[in-house]
Amino acid sequence: MEPEFWQEKWDAGQIGFHSDDVHTDLHDYVDAWLAGGPHQILVPLCGKSVDLAWLAAKGHEVIGIELAKKAVIALFNDAGLTPTWTDVPGAERAQAGNLTVYCGNLFDISPATIGPITRVWDRAAFIALHPSQRASYVARLRACLAPKGKLLMNVLNYDPAVMDGPPWAVDGSIVAQHYPEAIQLGTRDALDDRWKSRGHERVEAVTWQADVKSDA
Ligand SMILES: C[S@@+](CC[C@H](N)C(=O)[O-])C[C@H]1O[C@@H](n2cnc3c(N)ncnc32)[C@H](O)[C@@H]1O
Repeated sequence: MEPEFWQEKWDAGQIGFHSDDVHTDLHDYVDAWLAGGPHQILVPLCGKSVDLAWLAAKGHEVIGIELAKKAVIALFNDAGLTPTWTDVPGAERAQAGNLTVYCGNLFDISPATIGPITRVWDRAAFIALHPSQRASYVARLRACLAPKGKLLMNVLNYDPAVMDGPPWAVDGSIVAQHYPEAIQLGTRDALDDRWKSRGHERVEAVTWQADVKSDA
C-alpha cells in the first residue's frame, strides 16, 4: 500500500489493528524464540504496538520501523518514555534506552542503518503490505538479519474471495514462497464479530518461525 493510505488511517484514528495487550501468540512462543539472548529484535511496520516495550523490558534491544509519526510518538508515550529524536538517512530515529523506532518508510531505510538483527517479530506487517511489495520486503529483512537469525511471524488466513486486503490473506504456499525454511508453529481461530460483519466464516491466525540465513 502507498504511505498515504496508512497516514490517512492514522490521521482518522482508524487503527482497528492495534491492541492494548501484548499479542497472544507472542506470549506463547517468546521463550523458545528468544532463547540464547539478549537479542536485537526488529519489529517492522510496528504501529504503536505495546509488544516493543514489553520485549525491551525483557532486556533485549528492540528496533521498530513505522511510517506514521503519530504512532511513534504514541508508542513512546504509552511506554512512559521520552525519546531523543535524530535524523538518519531515510528516517527520523526516536530512541530511549534499549528501544529505538525508525520513523519512515521501510523501503527508504538501508539495512545498514538498522544494523545487524538477530530476531524479527512480524505481526500485521507482511499481511499489511500489498502482495507486489512482499519480495522486496523480505529481501530487506534478510539483509538485516545476522546468520542464525530467526523470524517469528503471525499471519491471517481467510478465504481471499471474501475481500481484498489489507490485511491480505496469507496461506502456507505464500509463506513457503518467501520463506522456504519456515515451519508452522500453531494455528488459532481468529473469527470474531468484526470479521463476521465483513462476511467471513473462517479466519485463522497462523504463527510461523523461519530460521533465516542472511545470504539466502
Ligand atoms: C496493520 S498495521 C500493524 C501495526 C502493528 N504491527 C500492530 O500490530 O499493531 C501496519 C502498520 O505499518 C505501517 N506501514 C505501512 N507501510 C509501511 C512502510 N512502507 N514503512 C513503514 N511503516 C509502514 C502503517 O503505518 C501501520 O501502522
